[in-house]
Amino acid sequence: MKKVSFAEFGGPDVLQLVTAEEPHAGPGQVRIAVRAAGVNPVDWRVREGQVLGAHPIELPAGVGLDASGVVDEIGEGVEGVAVGDHVFGEGSSTYAEFAVLSAWARMPDGLTFEEAAGYPSVVETALRIIREVGVQPGQTLLVSGASGGVGSAVLQIARERGIAVIGTAGAANQDYLRSLGALATTYGEGWVERVRQLGPIDAALDLAGSGVIRELIELTGDARKVISIADLDAPKLGVRFSGVAGSVPQALAEATGLIARGKLHIPVEKSYTLAEAAAAHIDSQAGHTRGRRVVIV
Ligand SMILES: NC(=O)c1ccc[n+]([C@@H]2O[C@H](COP(=O)([O-])OP(=O)(O)OC[C@H]3O[C@@H](n4cnc5c(N)ncnc54)[C@H](OP(=O)(O)O)[C@@H]3O)[C@@H](O)[C@H]2O)c1
Repeated sequence: MKKVSFAEFGGPDVLQLVTAEEPHAGPGQVRIAVRAAGVNPVDWRVREGQVLGAHPIELPAGVGLDASGVVDEIGEGVEGVAVGDHVFGEGSSTYAEFAVLSAWARMPDGLTFEEAAGYPSVVETALRIIREVGVQPGQTLLVSGASGGVGSAVLQIARERGIAVIGTAGAANQDYLRSLGALATTYGEGWVERVRQLGPIDAALDLAGSGVIRELIELTGDARKVISIADLDAPKLGVRFSGVAGSVPQALAEATGLIARGKLHIPVEKSYTLAEAAAAHIDSQAGHTRGRRVVIV
């Protein structure tokens, strides 16, 4: 089969489209014929060797965590899924013609494979950090870096729960944030004052890692009301860094309900072929993705 692989850590040019042995579903896993793989920032962080400590990586290594596709092999002990089912979920080396998933759910009706590949880790992260920050219906959540994959999910899930949201994003994404039900303002010079003018903040999420932890503490009045998923220095200021994934099947089940009711939609900013994986990483690393980028297989 064809898969995207890298033999050394480095820039996007280390990615190569190679011919490799097909993987097989082990106990508790399914194998899918991949139709699309989501492009997440963690993919290029792994490629660069940034997350070496947390997950030791043997080279050459595949790329990709999220995928959608058609089940074609079922591992020992797996129930409730059949060959031919359309699923989306998390696994490894998903920029490939076949991949093994360790967590999955049936794709909701009406979602394309291309769209579905953008959801799994984004919705798991969004649900986790909304829970961990402890924001309640009727309160206001500030989201720094609200127009990307995780931000798009956080905004819609929070609004659905009756939480008011203020999001920061670039000038080109202000209307996008408003379309998701948030109040919007731009990041950059003067942003704290602009947020203040939109109202008091009960809790805040740092999704961009743009060095705003002090300001988020100031705006909420309490470091315990702030969580970051992108700034490893946040704990030095008393702010929790959330990095341990929760239950993906549970997140996908919740997301499926929201998608079916038209309450959650992660737009695909751009699709790439397997051979264009390096371009997908360059674009993702530029840091201005609206929704998700996807590799189509
Ligand atoms: N710890 C965890 O468990 C976990 C899980 C998932 C993701 N992450 C990390 O969380 C981050 C966000 O993930 P993602 O998938 O949502 O990324 P993404 O889709 O690439 O989105 C990045 C967003 O950041 C915004 N942005 C860029 N510069 C900014 C600035 N100076 N201030 C505020 N916003 C800015 C961009 O908005 P504009 O386009 O409008 O400029 C863009 O929409 C990544 O660093 C990722 O590695 C961590």
